[in-house]
Parts: sequence; C-alpha cells; structure tokens
Amino acid sequence: MKLLVCGGAGFIGSNFVRQRLASSDDEIVVLDKLTYAGRRESLRDLEADARFAFVHGAIEDPEAVDHALAGAGAIVNFAAETHVDRSIAEPDAFVRTHALGTYVLLEAARKQGVRYLQVSTDEVYGSIEAGSFTESSPLEPSSPYSATKAGADLLVASYQRTFALETLICRGSNNYGPYQYPEKLIPLMILNAFHGDRLPVYGDGANVRNWLFVEDFASGISHVLEHGVPGETYNVGGPDESDNLTVVRRIIELSGADESLIEFVTDRPGHDRRYSLASEKVAALGWRAGTRFEQGIERTVAWYRENEWWWAPIRSGAYREYYERQYGTALAE
Ligand code: NAD
Ligand code: DAU
Repeated sequence: MKLLVCGGAGFIGSNFVRQRLASSDDEIVVLDKLTYAGRRESLRDLEADARFAFVHGAIEDPEAVDHALAGAGAIVNFAAETHVDRSIAEPDAFVRTHALGTYVLLEAARKQGVRYLQVSTDEVYGSIEAGSFTESSPLEPSSPYSATKAGADLLVASYQRTFALETLICRGSNNYGPYQYPEKLIPLMILNAFHGDRLPVYGDGANVRNWLFVEDFASGISHVLEHGVPGETYNVGGPDESDNLTVVRRIIELSGADESLIEFVTDRPGHDRRYSLASEKVAALGWRAGTRFEQGIERTVAWYRENEWWWAPIRSGAYREYYERQYGTALAE
C-alpha cells in the first residue's frame, strides 16, 4: 500500500513512519509543513529508503495535498499544533490547522476515494476523576488545543455519515519516547535535568496522565488502519498512569540530577486533572501496549543522553525565546 502520512516529521509521525517502513512493504509519502515541531532530522535515517518520499507543504493547501496524495490508498493524519500551553497563548494556528486542514484532507480523500485515519487525543473527552473514558463518552474539551481536535473528529465523522468516506479515528493518551520536542513534560524535564536547570512543575504536581510509549501508539494506529471497522473510533491508552511529580522524580533519579531543582510554578489555566482511556475496543483487534512506563522512561532518558545531535540545535534556537515567554527568565538558569 502507498500511504500519505501528514505531519510525519513530528514526534509520533516520524516514529510511525520508521516502524511502518521496517515492518511492511508500504511506500510512504510524508506531507509536512515543518513548523517549529516538524524536524526533517527526525526522518534522517529513512531518507535513503526508496519507499520513502518527503513533500514540504501544509494540509490546508489543496494543491499540495492533491500532489502528495497521487496514487495513495490511505491518508494517516498526524498534522497538528500539539502543545496545550501554546494553544492558550496563541490559538490561531490551532483553529486553522485542525479545522481547515482536516477539511482539505477530507475533501481530497473523498475526491480520490481513499481511506482516512485521523490521529486524535484523549484530551477531547476532558478530565475524569475516577474510571476511564470509553469511545462513547461525551466530548468535553478544556483547551483551544483539545476543542479544535474535537471539532476535527466531528468533521471526520460527518464525512463518513454524509459521504460514505471510509474513516477511522484513533484517540491516544500521553505519548513519550524518542524525537519528542522538549516543550512537553518528559523531554523538557530530561533536558533540564541534564543541564542542572530548574524543573517547573505546574500547580501541585498531582495531575495524572496515562503514559503510552510512542512505538506502542504507532503500532496501535497500524492495527486500526489494517483491522479497524470504517466509521469507528478507537481509544489507544497506555498501560500505566502516574502523577506529574512522580514522573519528574523518576527522571531526576535516572539522570543523576538533584531534587532541589524542582520548582512549583503557576498552574496552567483550565488544567485537566486526570486522563484515563479504556482501550478494550482496540485490544479486541489484537493490539496491546507492550512497554510499561518503567521500561519506556529508561529507554527515553537513554535516547536523549545518546542523541544530543538531535536536541542541541533545538535548545539553542527559537526554543529559548519560547521558554522564556512561557516560564520567565527566572527559570532559564
Ligand atoms: P508534533 O507537534 O511533534 O508534530 C506535529 C507535526 O505536524 C509536525 O511535524 C508539524 O510540522 C506538522 N504540522 C503542523 N501543522 C501542519 C500543517 N498545517 N500542515 C502540515 N503539517 C503540519 O506532534 P505529535 O506529538 O507527534 O502529535 C501528532 C498527532 O498525534 C497530533 O494530531 C496530536 O494531536 C496527536 N496526539 C498526540 C499525543 C501526544 O502525547 N503527543 C497523544 C495523542 C494524540
Ligand atoms: O493526552 C494526550 C495529549 O498529551 C496530547 O494530545 C497533546 O498533544 C500532548 O501535548 C499531551 O498534552 P498534555 O498537556 O497532557 O502534555 P504536557 O507534556 O504539556 O503536560 C503533561 C502534564 O505535565 C500536564 O499535567 C502539565 C504538566 N506540565 C507540563 C509542562 C510542559 C508541568 O507540570 N510542567 C511543564 O513544564
């Protein structure tokens, strides 16, 4: 099969493309706008593969999409603005990419008659104090990020019902692993711990996330693409949950940093307390998350230790300005 993978230069997309090229005969075309989070370097080891091609372009550009889609049998859409804090500071790009971009992709899929898989998030359900969200839980998103992702999911569902387009939706829980941009909790804490920088924990640090190793999310998406029932949504959750403070303390131990680096900072507005996904539906397709958090976090810290070539240019570039805007200069040293 030839796949169009939108957003394939990002964290999860690049892991998905790497896994797919290694485990199938697929040809893969990546369409990516290369925002600050899109890194061509994350695909560096795949560039020489004759089954891989890269197209620089935006999903909201119909010409770029039609060109990249030629001859493909399916679209897997990872392309998104993905950081909740940035969506609070500047929601504009979130609305454009998630609403307009998803619409342009759906129209192209409809015209060319190809299957469409939307990569979505547990954040569309909002926060849950106890128990887990199923695929039929109501959508109650809290941030401009999750609200626009929920809007995109509804648009996808409408194309299945109205136009009989074959669509699938995968809602993943919090991913971590190699190639994640260091604005997100785990890579930010790892790199700050390596450098002896302070570790900014929002609020009381008791917010809980359902951690999913990125290779497991990639294999879950492949399972849904190959075995999912068109029109259905599948939750893909991790095997372990943990509060943020426990995660940060484990990173401190693994990187040999000092606990005194932890600093409690002003909470994120609208901060969801807990996420939890019930994943029985995707498990019935034969998928399970093979990586427990303890094993995955060790692999992740080791990967960042061994791959400074990947993160050093990020930390010395525009990321510094973002960091100071988000956390203030007091935390920068
Ligand atoms: P990321 O920020 O690392 O990568 C996003 C990619 O999309 C980048 O390569 C970026 O350049 C590209 N992109 C952004 N806007 C684009 C546009 N308009 N046109 C083309 N390309 C564009 O994100 P990620 O963490 O890899 O997330 C990928 C997908 O998975 C997103 O849809 C996200 O909502 C979803 N998701 C993420 C997580 C997580 O924990 N990171 C969990 C569940 C679901
Ligand atoms: O749940 C899936 C979602 O997970 C994805 O859809 C999003 O794209 C992805 O960014 C992620 O969202 P979160 O908001 O949960 O991830 P983040 O890494 O930003 O934060 C994780 C938790 O850590 C959250 O409770 C906020 C907290 N946090 C985060 C940062 C960046 C801190 O305490 N300090 C920080 O500096």
